[in-house]
Amino acid sequence: MSAPARVFYLTTPIYYVNATPHLGHAYTTIIADAMARYHRLAGHDVRFLTGTDEHGDKIAQAAAKAGVRPQGYTDQISAAFRQAWQRLGITNDDFIRTTEERHKTIVRQILQTLWDAGEIYLGKYGGHYCFGCERFYTEKEIVDGTCPDHRTPLTWIEEENYFFKMSKYQGWLIELIESRPDLIRPERYRNEILGFLREPLQDLSISRPTKRLEWGIPLPFDDKYVTYVWFDALINYVSALGPPGGETFNRYWPHVEHLIGKDILKPHAIYWPCMLKAAGLDVFRRLDVHGYWNIGGGKMSKSIGNVVEALALTDKYGHDAFRYFLMREMTFGLDADFSEEALVGRLNADLANDLGNLVSRATTLIVNSGGVSRVPAETELDDLERQIRDRFARVREGVDEAMAEFAFQKALARIWELIGLLNGYVDVSKPWELAKSAAARPRLERVLYVLGESLRFLGIVLAPFLPDAAGKIRRAVGQTGEPKLSEAAWGRLEPGTAIERLSGLFPRIDKEERSKEEQIGKTDAASRTSSRPPTERAGLADPATTTPELANSVSIDQFSKIDLRVAEIIAAEAVAKSKKLLKLTVSLGDSQRTVVAGIAEHYAPADLVGKKVVIVANLEPAKLMGIESQGMVLVGSAGDRWAVLTLDRDLPPGARVK
Ligand code: MSP
Repeated sequence: MSAPARVFYLTTPIYYVNATPHLGHAYTTIIADAMARYHRLAGHDVRFLTGTDEHGDKIAQAAAKAGVRPQGYTDQISAAFRQAWQRLGITNDDFIRTTEERHKTIVRQILQTLWDAGEIYLGKYGGHYCFGCERFYTEKEIVDGTCPDHRTPLTWIEEENYFFKMSKYQGWLIELIESRPDLIRPERYRNEILGFLREPLQDLSISRPTKRLEWGIPLPFDDKYVTYVWFDALINYVSALGPPGGETFNRYWPHVEHLIGKDILKPHAIYWPCMLKAAGLDVFRRLDVHGYWNIGGGKMSKSIGNVVEALALTDKYGHDAFRYFLMREMTFGLDADFSEEALVGRLNADLANDLGNLVSRATTLIVNSGGVSRVPAETELDDLERQIRDRFARVREGVDEAMAEFAFQKALARIWELIGLLNGYVDVSKPWELAKSAAARPRLERVLYVLGESLRFLGIVLAPFLPDAAGKIRRAVGQTGEPKLSEAAWGRLEPGTAIERLSGLFPRIDKEERSKEEQIGKTDAASRTSSRPPTERAGLADPATTTPELANSVSIDQFSKIDLRVAEIIAAEAVAKSKKLLKLTVSLGDSQRTVVAGIAEHYAPADLVGKKVVIVANLEPAKLMGIESQGMVLVGSAGDRWAVLTLDRDLPPGARVK
């Protein structure tokens, strides 16, 4: 009997549903996906969890702002996350929502256990509270009277709350982190936590009075309180496995690794181990912490308006290019800067030039020379060919080592060293010349084998990182079925395997094309901003210079009959059997309505949720594919480039546009 498969349980943070998925969320989820795929490729028993965090002040406030009830609001945004991950090809095995019954039950059970064990007490607390962070700050942490993170004023709140006796675990936690050097990785984050633990640890307030916040899980022992959102959220990692002690829990929990961004290190490295210890559950196996994506050296934020949406670039450049860039550009654990230029640079250099060219040259040569006819004998191989053969095992080891520490950039660098070696091999072995003489045939056959076999190898080891491209490569060299890491070893390509030509795997992005596109965008924007508002224009038009558009001018009275409003898109879905239409549910502040828009070829539903757009609110209702549309979204277009009109600073839904 073979040994049981290694078990691997990987989690991402569960994302707050007060914002739609952006680059940061996509990064964590994509690298988790690559890791899960890597373990599956290695034959491990994998469980990969992601989900959404749906309770607490932040969400209640966001729902109130959108003018909808929290449950409806969270349903929409949670669905946007789920859809975004589907579109990015994420292979999560489960998606948990903290509003699901299966989660709430386990949270209540754990709270009850801690209450019964005397781990929780009712205490009075006064403190400086930040609604953005949903936590109190100590005098020491406050910066100029404001929240150190948001830099907004704090609110002094005094109230009775339930507290978890976290302080008593301080000594235990320090010992645990010291005795398990790889519990928190990379080391800088472990050091940060050990540094933090040099100060006395406070007990943790784990409740919020319902008179202040109702949107949460009621405490099982006092329904005048709901559970503090972090205490609720962390438990998702357990509740997704069903009851502790159950079969799924027993199988996966001992192997759990949490992948998080550095922003949420403290709750994961301090609260969570103490909570687990108090509840009698094992502490996670590892906490893997990554850095932050910045834009132009600064933070990505809604208020700055530089948020890169999760799906913004994948349609333009493809999933694989986006994944590749994120994994190759960021050193795991450190911050990195994101820019479209850098992405295009990597796409052109590493994907189009190095990998794409190799695949295209190799498959073309093989197809044109009659295929792979035989496995060369060991003694036939020259130095470079032996180097390539030996490199297979070294790449495997290098990738294994790198993936064991989440060093995606290193794993890819190892694979690209082989790709470089292979491109050099094609250059020096000149198979197109060998093809000219019958005497060189044996040598040509060797070269074709080395190339075909190398593509087969690449089709396997690239699978976690570039799933689409790797699949195409495997198919081109006649490999069907699921790839297995154990087959990424020299000498398995069968002579006579049907090989197909594969070119254009990653088309180069032409700089000129891009700048032309950008130019179109710019001229559009420029003409919009430089032209005077229609009211002024109509009044000042000089008949001698009247342009053709102005020949059909409307009077200000006519224009003012059009009721333009800011509308927030709270839900979006494709219209069945229509390629062009999306059904949007928009909020106008005090009311909601359905608007059908013909933009499905330019926007994915998930990209639209949360956007504030402009609609014609008094357009006569019309039925489109059986759905009544109560208005029209304003959309600009220049050729194939379409853009819905959004605001350059925030206004509440329902605001008049004139
Ligand atoms: N709901 C909490 C997590 C609870 S886990 C029990 C939360 N949600 S969040 O929506 O704010 O997501 C935070 C996570 O998103 C980060 O830890 C990180 O994984 C990812 N990122 C958000 N912005 C990011 C960047 N700019 N760069 C990289 N990742 C970032 O916190």
